[in-house]
This record gives sequence, structure tokens and C-alpha cells, in this order.
Amino acid sequence: MPLQQTNPTQTSAWTNLEKLRQEEVGLNIKDLFESDPNRAAKYSREWEDFFVDFSKNRITENTLAGLVRLAEEMSLSDAIAKFFEGDVINQTEGRAVLHTALRARRSETILHQGKNVVEEVYAVKEKIASFCDSIIGGTWLGYSGKPFTDVVNIGIGGSDLGPYMVTEALKYYRNHLNLHFVSNIDGDHVHEHLKRLNPETTLFIIVSKSFTTQETLGNAATIKNWFLQTAVEKEIPKHFVAVSSNVSKALEFGIAEANIFPMWDWVGGRFSLWSAVGLSIALGVGYANYEQLLDGANAMDTHFRETDFENNLPVLTALLTVWYNNFLGAETEAIIPYTQYLHRFSAYLQQGFMESNGKRVDRAGFPVDYQTGTVIWGEPGTNAQHAFFQLMHQGTKLIPTDFIGFRKSLHGDEEHHDKLMANFFAQTEALMNGKSKEEAEMELRESNTSPEMIEALLPFKVFPGNNPTTTILIEKLTPHSLGALIAMYEHKIFVQGVLWNIFSFDQWGVELGKQLATTILEEIQSQTAGSHDTSTNQLINKFLAK
Ligand code: F6P
Repeated sequence: MPLQQTNPTQTSAWTNLEKLRQEEVGLNIKDLFESDPNRAAKYSREWEDFFVDFSKNRITENTLAGLVRLAEEMSLSDAIAKFFEGDVINQTEGRAVLHTALRARRSETILHQGKNVVEEVYAVKEKIASFCDSIIGGTWLGYSGKPFTDVVNIGIGGSDLGPYMVTEALKYYRNHLNLHFVSNIDGDHVHEHLKRLNPETTLFIIVSKSFTTQETLGNAATIKNWFLQTAVEKEIPKHFVAVSSNVSKALEFGIAEANIFPMWDWVGGRFSLWSAVGLSIALGVGYANYEQLLDGANAMDTHFRETDFENNLPVLTALLTVWYNNFLGAETEAIIPYTQYLHRFSAYLQQGFMESNGKRVDRAGFPVDYQTGTVIWGEPGTNAQHAFFQLMHQGTKLIPTDFIGFRKSLHGDEEHHDKLMANFFAQTEALMNGKSKEEAEMELRESNTSPEMIEALLPFKVFPGNNPTTTILIEKLTPHSLGALIAMYEHKIFVQGVLWNIFSFDQWGVELGKQLATTILEEIQSQTAGSHDTSTNQLINKFLAK
């Protein structure tokens, strides 16, 4: 059954939220803490080893109740059930959305077109496990009889961002294999990698769900040619494997049938790291850790599916987005992990959120007259503090921010970790409290600043505060907690889409650029700029005159 269609702005919950916005317009988070000593506990939730503190948000009990009502009026429970049960909720592509099946328990039954997909998923998992054993254990050898030292993932978008993010995030758990990620069609990207690689000891994984993506096929062809400069054609099966749902195209490229790891059309690219797309993860951290990652995601799936909205982490985080985006005028959301290991996390989530929810028509195809997907961005703290936090503290934009931190560091250097976490806590406090004119004046006086200087400097020393943050404090960065964290954001994406009455699982918007690039490439190759606007023609001609 398709998802129900309701214009969120036509619900009584929306009208009520609009009223609340007007009533709560001057709300200051700092004051909310002063008037309620229990606020921190009231707006915090514990789940497994996650502690999520929502209290530093511009919300009251009324706001939260109003948002939950919106979720109910938008039939969120029905949507969650349809999602997990494999209904065709990706309607414009006629597909179910079942990445949750990739991390389901073996004993579960999830039917898709009458077949239990869990069986197929586990068959592929077994193939991944035994492949990992032979590559990591050094029994699968390269063409000159040496074990593998390097693995190159060739893919882009969802076939790159997830595996790259996760293998960086789990670097602490990595084995001897060096991992490389080639994604950009920019030849400098692939050649930079190739110059460091030895074809005798390098394994190449071509990851493309469609096996038609220009970048991936272009890079794979370049790499294959490079490989054949030292090896002969018949050695290709020892060094090249593929992950794809388009088996015939992979075969056509020259991949041996036994080396193809299948995936299914019910796995969206940006949700695919749990499938064989995550082969580089399993190779890099070992199969047991890879299973833990999936287990963590599965635990979050259960939480999401079974928990009431008031205590449901993906639902609550999505409701906050709707509040800021649709009622308080925020356009972006920052995600700041306080661990260097998560340095690709925001980049990864950009695809998840922006490719999913960057939509301008509702599920009936009508243009929406309300805001949809937010701009997602971020970098790890503390580096971010020395880059763009100035704008968050004293700029003019409202930027709700997630702070993600871990109680324990992995290498156990407590001195460093204490400093890191001191910054983590200080920033959310500073963003909320700001610094009043009186406080700033007092500080200047205490540092013996002259009255003239105080007067001149005062406006620049004031921080308005009232910047909303959500703190996600997790025990430790492990494959399990990472899996749960990623799944939490995945489900947040889904909930947002339900609340905005849009389709989150297609991505027609990336097609236009691809089509035009194909036309322009033909023109470049034939040295003739076609009939574009004068700017595009001028630029192509400038390039052709090189
Ligand atoms: O950018 C569009 C897109 O289709 C993404 O959704 C996808 O992750 C990426 O291209 C790569 O696609 P494929 O795995 O088919 O090569």
C-alpha cells in the first residue's frame, strides 16, 4: 500500500503549531531552564549506551506535544509499518525500501514479492564473510602469488560515501589492509591513488548499483587498463570484484560471475552500506566488526519501530527539524561530531538528507508551499570551533546543531579526551547562554580596560545566545554504536519525508546535470560547442582553446 497523502499545513496540528510559534516567539532557552529545574532530565532520553539531551532546544511541553500530534495526524505509525513491511513506498520508482532487511536477524521473515529477502541477504553475507576470510587471511592471492595489501573501492555517491565514512570512523578497528576510495571522474583522483599502488597486491571493488554510472565506469576502465600494463587479462578475476544489482553489465565489463556480489533494487544507494556495498568495510575491519555495525543498526530499527513517539530518537530529532525549519525559519542544520574518526560523517549525511528530502513537489506531484529538506553540514569539533563557530555564536542565522560525543576515547588518552569533552560541553552551554552586555562589560572592567575602550568594544563582545543544540552522548565509538547512530539519522530522514508529504527515496534531481554533461562531452570530443546559452558556450570554447 502507498503512503497516505496529507498536506501537513492542512492539519489541525500545523495550525496549532503556528499558534504556538506566535506565542513562543520570544522564548529563551536559558529562561526555560531557570523556570524548570527538572528541564534537563525531562528532555533527555536514554537508549542502550546513548544519552540524548534535547533540553537545550527552543521547545516547551506544548511544542513537543504539538509536534507529536503532527506526527499522528500525518499517519507516521502507518508509514513506519509500511516501510518495515516492504510496501512500495518509493512510488515513483515502483520500489520497496528495505535497507532494514539488510540488518535483520536471520530468524526474521521479510517478504518482498512473496519471497523472504532475509534468506537472500544471508546468502550474500556468507559470500562476504568467506571472501573476507580469504583476503584478510592471505589465502586469496594476487597474480604473482602475493597476498593483498591494498583494496580500492571504485564507486560514487552511496557507493562511496558510506563505506568511506565508516572505514574512517572505524579506523581504530582496522586490520593490515590499506583502503583507498576512488570516486571523482577527475583523473587526478584516480592517478593520485594509482601512483602509490602495486598491481600485484591490490584488490579492486567496483561498486555500482546500476553499473551505468559514468564516474565509476570511467575510473574502473582506467584502472583496468593500468592493471593490464603489468598483468594479463586472465588475471583479472584475481583482482577485480563487483557489487551491483546489474549483473549483466558487470559481466560485460569483464567481472567473473563468481566475483559479483549482488544487491537489490529495494536498497537505495544512499542507504546501501549495509549491503555488499559495505564490502570494503568488512574487509577493512573484519567480518565480525562488520556484523556488529549491522547489529547496532538493527537495534535502532527495533527502537524506531517499537517506541512511542515521545521517546523515539529518530522521531524526536525529526520533529525538531520540522519545528525549526517550518516554524522558526532555520534553513540549515549542523552536525558536529567530537571525534576525528567521524570526519566524513556530515559529508555522508549530506547525501542521506539532501538527496532524499531535497524535493519541491508533494506525493501527489503538486508543488509544496512549505519548506522541505534542510541543508546539512558540519565538521568535527574542535576543528569546527576554529573554522565556522563564529557565525554560529554571533552571526544572524538560526542553526540548530547536533553535538555528538563519546564518554570514552579509543586510545584512552584521558588528558586529551578531557580537553576535547570540555570543549564539547562548553560549546553547547555558550551557544545557549551567550554573553549579556552586563557580563561582557564586567569582564572588560576586570581586565582593566579603559571606559572608552569598554564603550567601543562592548557591542562586539555580546553573544545573544539562545542557539539550539541537541547533545548525543554515547559511551564509546564502536562498530555497534556507529551502526545505531547511522540508523538513527537514516530514520530521521524517513520521518521528515513523511511529515513533509514528500517521496524521500527517489532522486530525479540528479539526472538533469548528468544528461547535459553527456551532451557536452560529445561536443568537447568533437571540438564543437553546441547551442547553449552564451555563457555556457563561451566557457566551453575557452576550454576547447586549451
Ligand atoms: O547521484 C545519484 C546516484 O544515483 C546516487 O543516488 C547513488 O548513490 C549514486 O548515484 C551512485 O549510483 P550507482 O551505485 O548506481 O553507481
